[in-house]
Amino acid sequence: MKGECDYGSPEVLKLEAVEKPVPTDDQVLVKVHAASVNPLDYHYMRGTPFVIRLDGGLRRPKPPRLGVDFAGTVEAVGPNVREMKPGDEVFGGRTGAFAEYVVATEGRLVRKPENISFEQAAAVPIAGVPALQALRDKARVKAGHRVLINGASGGVGTFAVQIAKSLGAHVTAVCSTRNVELVRSLGADEAIHDHGDNHEGRSRHPQRLDAKRKGHAGHRPELSPERGPRGRAVSGDGPRAGEGDHQGRGRQMSSSP
Ligand SMILES: NC(=O)c1ccc[n+]([C@@H]2O[C@H](COP(=O)([O-])OP(=O)(O)OC[C@H]3O[C@@H](n4cnc5c(N)ncnc54)[C@H](OP(=O)(O)O)[C@@H]3O)[C@@H](O)[C@H]2O)c1
Repeated sequence: MKGECDYGSPEVLKLEAVEKPVPTDDQVLVKVHAASVNPLDYHYMRGTPFVIRLDGGLRRPKPPRLGVDFAGTVEAVGPNVREMKPGDEVFGGRTGAFAEYVVATEGRLVRKPENISFEQAAAVPIAGVPALQALRDKARVKAGHRVLINGASGGVGTFAVQIAKSLGAHVTAVCSTRNVELVRSLGADEAIHDHGDNHEGRSRHPQRLDAKRKGHAGHRPELSPERGPRGRAVSGDGPRAGEGDHQGRGRQMSSSP
C-alpha cells in the first residue's frame, strides 16, 4: 500500500509503501479503484486555514495521509459488520483515500449503483453530500421554488444545480461566462455570469451577485432586499456552513472558494 503526505506545498508529498490496514471488528477493508480530489485536500495538505489543524494535527498531519473521497471493492469485513460483504462495490469518504486500501466503518460507505463507474462514484461524497443537505434538508426546496446557486460551475455547485432541478425548482446559476453552457447543460433555467473571466480582483460571488442583480456591490446576499419572508440562504463555505437566519423571498445556495 502506498501514499503519504505532510503539511506544505505539493513538493512535500511523498509516495511510500506502508502496512496494509487491518479492519477492526466494526470496519470494512476496501480496495480503492478511484479517488477524487477536492479543495478540502489542499486545505489538509497545507494545514490552512489554521482551524483545520485542530482536527488534522497541530504541527503535522495525523494521520499523515491525504484524500477523502473514494470508490472501490470490499475485500474484508470485521465480525460486527452486518450490511457489507467481500465483493460489494462501494463508495464513501475516509481520510487517507489516496491509497490502495482504506478501512472505514459501515456508516461511511454506501453501495455503488451498477449504472455508474467507480470514477463517477468517487466524485460524489464531498461535493454532492453538502449540496444535497443544503437544498433538501436545510432549504427544504420543493417543486416551484426559485433557487439561486452561487459557484454553480464548481464541484458543489454542479451537484446543486442538478439536485435543485430534480426537486422541481427553477434554478438560477451564478458562474463565469465560460461556464454558462456547462450550467445550462446541467439544467439551470437561467445563468448570471461575468462578462470577463478574470478572477483577479473580482469580488466573490455574494458581492458579485448583488452587483449584477441589485447594483449593491459589497452587500452580503443575506441582507439583499431581493428576498422576502419565506426565503432561506444556505452556505456551504467555511466552518460555520449552514442555514442563514435571515428573511428572504428566494432560496439561495452559496459556494465559492
Ligand atoms: N461545507 C462543506 O461540507 C463543503 C464541502 C465541499 C466544499 N465546501 C466549500 O465550498 C467551496 C466550493 O467548493 P467546490 O468543491 O465547489 O470548489 P470549486 O470546484 O473550486 O468551485 C468553486 C467555484 O467558484 C467559482 N470561483 C472561483 N474563483 C472565484 C472568485 N474569485 N469569485 C467568484 N467565484 C469564483 C468558480 O466558478 P466560475 O469560474 O464559473 O465563477 C468555481 O467553479 C469551497 O470553499 C469548499 O471549501 C464545503
